[in-house]
Amino acid sequence: MIDRPRRLRATPAMRRLVSETRVHPAELVLPVFVREGATEPVPISSMPGVVQHSLDSLRAALVAAAEAGIGGVMLFGVPEHKDAIGSGATDPSSILNVATRVAAEEVGGALVVQTDLCLDEFTDHGHCGVLDPLGRVDNDATLDRYREMAVVQAASGSQLLGLSGMMDGQVAAVREALDDAGFTDTPILGYAAKYASAFYGPFREAVQSSLVGDRRTYQLDPANRREGAREIDLDVAEGADIVMVKPAMSYLDVLADAAASSPVPVWAYQVSGEYAMIEAAAAHGWIDRRRAVLESVLGIRRAGADAVLTYWATELAEWLR
Ligand code: PBG
Repeated sequence: MIDRPRRLRATPAMRRLVSETRVHPAELVLPVFVREGATEPVPISSMPGVVQHSLDSLRAALVAAAEAGIGGVMLFGVPEHKDAIGSGATDPSSILNVATRVAAEEVGGALVVQTDLCLDEFTDHGHCGVLDPLGRVDNDATLDRYREMAVVQAASGSQLLGLSGMMDGQVAAVREALDDAGFTDTPILGYAAKYASAFYGPFREAVQSSLVGDRRTYQLDPANRREGAREIDLDVAEGADIVMVKPAMSYLDVLADAAASSPVPVWAYQVSGEYAMIEAAAAHGWIDRRRAVLESVLGIRRAGADAVLTYWATELAEWLR
């Protein structure tokens, strides 16, 4: 026998030396929820260990994240009031924009402060855009809302805009609006291949979404791999600085395709349902929590993600130190 692959698995030192993929704190991004009017952090029952932050607890979480050495935070607002056009999204005194100013001031020099640019947290119908008279999501009218949102977010101090709404042409529209307002250096993260996934379930509780129905007219069909590649190409052509595949675990083929073809960094989002599954199984003693968390993020990196959004970012970074 000539080939004995076990030679390279024989000792911890050898395995460490030949390891092909590593996870580093700098490539982890922590999504955080900030709730308007909260004086205490509010637990999210479907995401044990994750909370809706008050502005005070947000500060503490940001400092811990920066100390752990992670690469960035992605802010989501949970507003007190919602309406049909998501007015809160473009109000500089609304929670997401206030939290952005807090984050930029607190940790803006240590990591990258990012904001979710989407209307679903702010609309009373829960859709990612505004509706036409027949109740359908109106693509081009939504782009106007995104343009305005982008400028307010950049002015509030966001250092990377996460466009997660899946409207056609959203990257080009936001790029133009930012440039016209003088924010030529604010980069765009395009959620290019974002699928209509059951794994967003816990997130809907986290942002108290009032969605009735589903998002299948704008998010991708989980059956479609080629369409994911097309969306990646479109976002790159429209000027995305980074592209995203989301969710991660059930879309590793799409991620690997994107990593092989994209000229810009490719990120992946390990979403709320992926988090909840591992936490729930671990809580029952059915899997080893720490090993499962590490393996899940390692797999996403191995498939080709340059960075990973994960609710475990801070804790994982602490383990890696
Ligand atoms: C939309 C948005 C969603 C998530 C991030 N941004 C929800 C959705 O599209 O339904 C889900 C993230 C997660 O599940 O962790 N603003």
